[in-house]
Amino acid sequence: MNPSALQQRIDASVDHIRRVAPGRCPKLAIVLGSGWDGIADLVQEPVDIAYADLPAFPVLGVAGHAGTLRLGQIGPAGHLRDVALLRGRKHAYETGDAAGMKGAIRTLAALGCSTLLLTNAAGSLEPHMPPGSLMLISDHLNIVQRTPLHDEPGADRFVDMGAAYDATLRDQAAAAAVEAGVELHEGVYAWVMGPQFETPAEIRMLRALGAQAVGMSTVPETILARHAGLQVLGLSMLTNLGAGMDDQALSHAHTLHTAQSTAALAATLLAAIVPALSL
Ligand code: HPA
Repeated sequence: MNPSALQQRIDASVDHIRRVAPGRCPKLAIVLGSGWDGIADLVQEPVDIAYADLPAFPVLGVAGHAGTLRLGQIGPAGHLRDVALLRGRKHAYETGDAAGMKGAIRTLAALGCSTLLLTNAAGSLEPHMPPGSLMLISDHLNIVQRTPLHDEPGADRFVDMGAAYDATLRDQAAAAAVEAGVELHEGVYAWVMGPQFETPAEIRMLRALGAQAVGMSTVPETILARHAGLQVLGLSMLTNLGAGMDDQALSHAHTLHTAQSTAALAATLLAAIVPALSL
C-alpha cells in the first residue's frame, strides 16, 4: 500500500476510535498473543471495536479470533490505567509480509500511545525454563532478516535497535513480577518465519547464537514500534521446549493447550506489570 493510502486509513482509524470511545486516551497498548488474552477480562468499562471497523488494522485469518481492539482501564482502585488491548495479530507467516501490523501500530502511535507491550507464545531454548514459564524479552535476534520497513522512503527507516526493549520498563516489569510472586525469566527472543516449527539442528543453532526463546511474531512489531517512536516491552510465554530438546512432538494444538493452562499466571503477571510501568 502506498504511504498516503496507508496514512488515510490510519487517520480514519483514529477518527473512528475517538468517536466510539471518546475520552479514552491510553498511553499503553498491549498486543495479546496466545495465552495472554486473560487480561482482557480484567478491563473495566470496556469498549470493543472490531478490527474490521478500523481500516488500518489487519484482516485476520479464519483460525483464531477475528480481532478486536478493547479500550478500557486496568489496575487497583485509585490506580486505574487506560489501556488499549489488541486481541489478535497478523503474523508474517500468513502471507510472507512482515508489515501486517504496520497500520495498527501507527494508529496506536497517532492515538497517543507511547509504549507497546508485546506478548507471545514461544519455544524455550533453556531446560531451566520449562513449558509454562514466562520470560521478559531482553533483546531479539532477527534470524530471518526480514523487515516491515521496506517501502519506507525517509532516513528514519534506519532505526536504532540498540535499546529496542526499554531497560527502565524491563526493570519495572521484573520488580512487579517479584512483588506479585510470579517467576519471570529474562532472555533473548529469536524470530523465525514459520509456520513450520524448527528442526533440532536449527534449535542447536539458535542456542549457539545466544537465544533463549524462539517464536514466529513480535520482532516485526518491535521494529515498527521503534520506527514510530514507541517504547517497547516484550513478554514470552514458553509453551514447549525447542524441537529435539525433549521427546515431545510439536503442534499448534500443543502450543494452545500449554498456553491455556498458563493463562491465569500470565494474566496475574500482566495485571501486576500494567500499573507499575512509568509511561
Ligand atoms: N518455535 C517457534 N514458535 C513457537 C514455538 C516453537 O517451538 N512454540 C510456540 N511458538
